[in-house]
Amino acid sequence: MFNPLQRFLACEQWAFLARDRREWEIHLAHIREFFGEGLERADPKRPVLILGAGSGLEIPWRQAPPKTTGWDADPSSRIRTLLRHGRFAPWNFGDITGGFAPLQAAAQRCVKESWSGRRRPVEIARLRLAAILPTLPANPIALRRWIQRHRPASILAANFMGQLAPLAQDLLERSFAPHWPWEKDPESNDPLGEALERWTERQLRRLLHELTESGAELWLVHDRAVLEANSQLQLDPFTPDWRAQLSGADHLEAWDPLCGVDVLAALKNHPILHQSRWLWPLGPDQLHLTEALAFGTKLR
Ligand SMILES: C[S@@+](CC[C@H](N)C(=O)[O-])C[C@H]1O[C@@H](n2cnc3c(N)ncnc32)[C@H](O)[C@@H]1O
Repeated sequence: MFNPLQRFLACEQWAFLARDRREWEIHLAHIREFFGEGLERADPKRPVLILGAGSGLEIPWRQAPPKTTGWDADPSSRIRTLLRHGRFAPWNFGDITGGFAPLQAAAQRCVKESWSGRRRPVEIARLRLAAILPTLPANPIALRRWIQRHRPASILAANFMGQLAPLAQDLLERSFAPHWPWEKDPESNDPLGEALERWTERQLRRLLHELTESGAELWLVHDRAVLEANSQLQLDPFTPDWRAQLSGADHLEAWDPLCGVDVLAALKNHPILHQSRWLWPLGPDQLHLTEALAFGTKLR
């Protein structure tokens, strides 16, 4: 049986692949070239790990060394990779962060009394969960064990880090349904929304910590920002602060899916092999600012 995270990821992947991809050419060309370079540089005799491998739309698997493993919680990801690339790679189907099962258990405990099964008033459930979230673990133990066991030469993170925040939000919305877990008045504080952002930030920081300690070369692609902008938006030359790269739009709304985590800053002790950003159109007014960063092993 699939757990809720796996079911949700399978639906998401389906929606992702069903989108009109005609405008994705530039995105797909950049990302495949970037990961292709990472795979070509990897020692062909050593293991390589691809996190968020999905169905391989963004991954040039033919360039992957023989001992390359995919990791994706979507149960259809491995078979779709086989169909797309003819490669039946070793695979991990677990949650990369290890944080979603404890998050779901906590949400369920807050929504319903465990002893009676009765639903708590939604206000009480929200406040209880906001108080519990900071105590939940951020400990990607399965990832750490895999890295310790296999000592990969390179790790690719293929566009999954920006998905953790919407995944966590969706999980809480399902747990609270038919009620809305978030504060409806945009002028008021939303303790649960803020606590969930901090939860996501901790998961991401811990994940990056495991990657920095892995001794592997790191090839990371993620949504740096989700933007709502008019067509005048321009992307200026790369600067470490992504906000400074955006210019020209009369209307611009930006949302940070990494919840305040700056990957360049978090990996500041690693030599930079590559840094670039590009715009990826996903809807009529919705653009993702994609960031591609590659790092050598940590300087001691
Ligand atoms: C935007 S898709 C990336 C597409 C993929 N790189 C490809 O080439 O098809 C993000 C992928 O990350 C996976 N994912 C997201 N969060 C995950 C988690 N916590 N654990 C495992 N996989 C996760 C999703 O199932 C999805 O396939």
